[in-house]
Amino acid sequence: MIYLGSDHAGFVLKQGLIKHLESRGMEYTDCGCNGETVDYPDIAKLVCHNVLGGNENRGVLICGTGVGASMAANRIKGIRAALCGDYYSAKYTRLHNDANVICLGGRVLGAGLASELLEVFLNTEFEGGKHALRIEKLDS
Ligand code: RB5
Repeated sequence: MIYLGSDHAGFVLKQGLIKHLESRGMEYTDCGCNGETVDYPDIAKLVCHNVLGGNENRGVLICGTGVGASMAANRIKGIRAALCGDYYSAKYTRLHNDANVICLGGRVLGAGLASELLEVFLNTEFEGGKHALRIEKLDS
């Protein structure tokens, strides 16, 4: 399952990504917000705790810059959240970091680029091998 969450600054971009996922017939769960003012750490916790419910789950967190959301998410054990603004990072954070959450800046990115980043993030498999040893060290 793909769990999406944003604060008020990421709400418009979240709606754009939901439209994109729906156009692709992909299932998702919207964890809020609904446009009201919320604190990004609260939304990050909600999305991340859902993501931790299954290995195949993915999270999408959007705040104004994506920075606060990524800081909040990466404090949660088992979450590997990647703040992405370019295609290469969105791809390689799956290949090399096995990132399970992508963070995006709602005041930084347009819906077109954000949709491309989300697509490559969702469709790229972790390479494992030496990279698995490295991500184990993140939690040790
Ligand atoms: C909200 O105004 C803004 O501070 C928040 O969305 C985020 O950008 C923080 O990192």
